[in-house]
Amino acid sequence: MDVIQAVNQRISTRAYLDKPITEAEARDWLATGQRSPSGGNLQPWRVIALAGDAKTAVADMAMKALMANPTGEPTDYPIYPENLWNPHEERRQTIGRQMFETLGIPKEDKGARMAWFANNFRFFDAPLAVFIILDKRMGHGQWAHSGMFLQTLALLAEERGWASCMQECWGMLRPSLKAHLQLGESEMVWCGMAVGYPDKDAAVNTLRSERATVDEFASFAGFQD
Ligand SMILES: Cc1cc2nc3c(=O)[nH]c(=O)nc-3n(C[C@H](O)[C@H](O)[C@H](O)COP(=O)(O)O)c2cc1C
Repeated sequence: MDVIQAVNQRISTRAYLDKPITEAEARDWLATGQRSPSGGNLQPWRVIALAGDAKTAVADMAMKALMANPTGEPTDYPIYPENLWNPHEERRQTIGRQMFETLGIPKEDKGARMAWFANNFRFFDAPLAVFIILDKRMGHGQWAHSGMFLQTLALLAEERGWASCMQECWGMLRPSLKAHLQLGESEMVWCGMAVGYPDKDAAVNTLRSERATVDEFASFAGFQD
């Protein structure tokens, strides 16, 4: 698979086949992903990879934590900036609307929307659950570099015939995750990632998200051609 194919075919995959990924495969995948660059070669991330009972245990914990705090636990690192502005807010709303349309869940069916959202906290039943852990003392640069790591993992997953969904929703449960995963004093979960073989028949996986055109986000100067 070439890079352009991996980039184009990767989508956030939200339904998976019941087909395991072995620890050896996960280790090999992470070892290649570790070639991701980071400023100063800090490699600021730490990874916790879970499967089987360990994955089920974190999902069970998450359901309980969500019941107690349906809008999420307190965090100093909110998922989006406050009062998100356009065009970003509009894009966020559009992808949400498109996802529920793809799923056939009407806007007014709050129960079904909530139930769908809860799927996040079961990693959409993917066989491999990954948490990216950061030290709170790291700054915005290291967060960005960890994003590059995540994208590298997502592209490498494509090459293996796997699919993935990055999951910042796990940021809603940072205190509970910190306790459950026995993180160090200054560590926190930044993001989760569901990984597995995609269920190509699932309607939700047919959603192809939109992007702004090059003219909308880039400007050019000084070219001779
Ligand atoms: C860091 C990060 C975190 C994300 N968190 C979630 C999440 O918690 N749940 C979810 O369903 N999608 C999540 N997404 C998926 C985005 O909604 C998705 O990337 C975006 O809509 C573009 O669609 P695509 O990934 O299919 O190209 C996340 C994406 C990124 C990059």
